[in-house]
Amino acid sequence: MVQLHDKTFEPFLSELEIQEIVKEMAHKMGVLKDEKPLFIIILKGSFIFASDLVKALDYDVELCFMQLKSYEGTQSSGKIKDIMGIPQQIKGRTLVVVEDIIDTGNTLEYLNQHLLAEQPQKIYYASLLLKPSVYKKPLTIDFVGKEIPNEFVVGYGLDYEELGRTLTQIYKLKIS
Ligand code: IMP
Ligand code: MG
Repeated sequence: MVQLHDKTFEPFLSELEIQEIVKEMAHKMGVLKDEKPLFIIILKGSFIFASDLVKALDYDVELCFMQLKSYEGTQSSGKIKDIMGIPQQIKGRTLVVVEDIIDTGNTLEYLNQHLLAEQPQKIYYASLLLKPSVYKKPLTIDFVGKEIPNEFVVGYGLDYEELGRTLTQIYKLKIS
């Protein structure tokens, strides 16, 4: 059990389970090798996952970072704040956007519109976790680590009000 601010969280995915998910994703991403993809890591939540993911790939990739924020507390706010913007060198490139978790998909939709305006060759989306019961957007998520129920989760980069990111396992909100 983990306490973050006013909330209690219980174990959800172990380190071993996470490792297996990441390994399998990296393996599936082997098909992108010849496209020389530019990985766009979405901060802050994806940084730990992305670090393990790119190390598990069997090829070298270029990396860049963007920072977006949509969550307030344990709810998607619907409004996206753009904190660190689009890198300049994406025209004509194959992009792989790396997300920690996709919930409503608002963040993704926002990102997709802005990235398309820069005329990349192709955009792939990768997310460690996806909440299919919440996600109703038309955009396809090309690489999904694991589909999860509509639970609020923390750890392995994911936060509750900025806490919990450094937990090595993933925990879910305990409903008391
Ligand atoms: P969306 O825009 O609703 O898809 O939410 C995407 C962003 O909200 C993710 O990149 C996370 O930063 C955050 N988020 C969504 N669900 C969770 C969760 O269960 N725990 C922690 N953060 C979450
Ligand atoms: Mg986030």
